[in-house]
Amino acid sequence: MSSGDYLPISVATLLPAKAVGLNLFQKEEESDRLMLYRGSDYPLNMDDLDRLRGRGVHLLYIAKDSGARYQAYLRRLLDPKSDSATVTPQLRAGALNEVVLDVLRTSFGNRHVTETVASIGKLGALTAEIITRDEFAVSDLFRVLHHDYATFTHSTNVAFYSGILAAALGYSQEEVERITTGGLLHDLGKLEIDDRILCKPGKLDEKEFRQVKRHPSLGFRKLAKRTDLCEGQLMMVYQHHERLDGKGYPVGNVGKNIHPWAKVCAVADVFEALTSQRPYRQPLSRAKALEIQQRDSGTAFDPEVLECWTAVIQNA
Ligand SMILES: [Fe+2]
Repeated sequence: MSSGDYLPISVATLLPAKAVGLNLFQKEEESDRLMLYRGSDYPLNMDDLDRLRGRGVHLLYIAKDSGARYQAYLRRLLDPKSDSATVTPQLRAGALNEVVLDVLRTSFGNRHVTETVASIGKLGALTAEIITRDEFAVSDLFRVLHHDYATFTHSTNVAFYSGILAAALGYSQEEVERITTGGLLHDLGKLEIDDRILCKPGKLDEKEFRQVKRHPSLGFRKLAKRTDLCEGQLMMVYQHHERLDGKGYPVGNVGKNIHPWAKVCAVADVFEALTSQRPYRQPLSRAKALEIQQRDSGTAFDPEVLECWTAVIQNA
C-alpha cells in the first residue's frame, strides 16, 4: 500500500484496550515509511500511550478501509452516556476533532454542496454542545488539532476557534451552534479553485491571487439560496476576508458594514492560518500569532473581538 492508503489518527483519541481492534502504523522518522506499530489483536496500555507522547509521536496511521470502524469508535466516545471516568475531556475533544475532520474530508472530497451543508449542520450543534460544557478546556483541544494545509483541516480548526470565541463573547448556545457551523463552511468557495494554486509552495502571482480572492463570493453564491442557513452564517462565508479599514475583499466594506459574526471568523481564520503548517513555512507559536494579529487591531480586526480571543488563548 502507498501512504495515500492510510489515514492519520490522533494518539489523543486512543484509550488503553485489551485489543486495539485496528492495525496501527507509525511513520519512520528518517524514511517517512509506515511500519506496523501494533497489530489489531494486541493490547495497548497506558504506558504505551505515555511512551508515544513522550517521544513526541502524536499521530499514528490506520489503513483507509478501517476508517469506518475508527469513526464508529469515535462516535461512541462522543456519546454523552459514555463512561466519563475513562473518557476524559481531552479524549472527547480528540474524538470530536477526528469526527468533524472526517465528515468535512468526505463531503469536501465529494464537492457536493447539499450533502456538505446537511452533514455539517448536525456537527456544528454537537461541537457547540461539547465546547460550551464546563469541563471543556481549550488547552485539551490544542493538543489534538491537526495543523496541516488542507482546506478541511483549516475549516475544522476555524470552526472550533469561532465557536469558542463566540461563547467567550457571550453569544447564546444557539448562536454558538450557528457560528460553529458557519466556520465549517466559511471556505466552501475554495472547492471551486484549482488545488495547484491553493497548495502552491511560495508566493502567488497576481493572477493566482485574484483567483483565490474569488472564494468568498463563490461560496456565498453557492449557499445564498439555502433556507437552512441564516444571514450571519452567509456573511461569515462572504465577509471573512473583509477588514475594518475597508482594505479587505471581496467588496472592501468598512467595519460598520461587516457582520459581527464575520469579524469573529476573521480573527479565528487568520489565527489558524498563522499557527498551521504552510507549504512555504513552519507554523508560528500561538504567542507569535497573537502578536502579529495585535498589530492589525483596529485596522483589520475588531479590537474587542481580538482582545477576547487573546484572553482565551492566554488563559488556555
Ligand atoms: Fe478564506
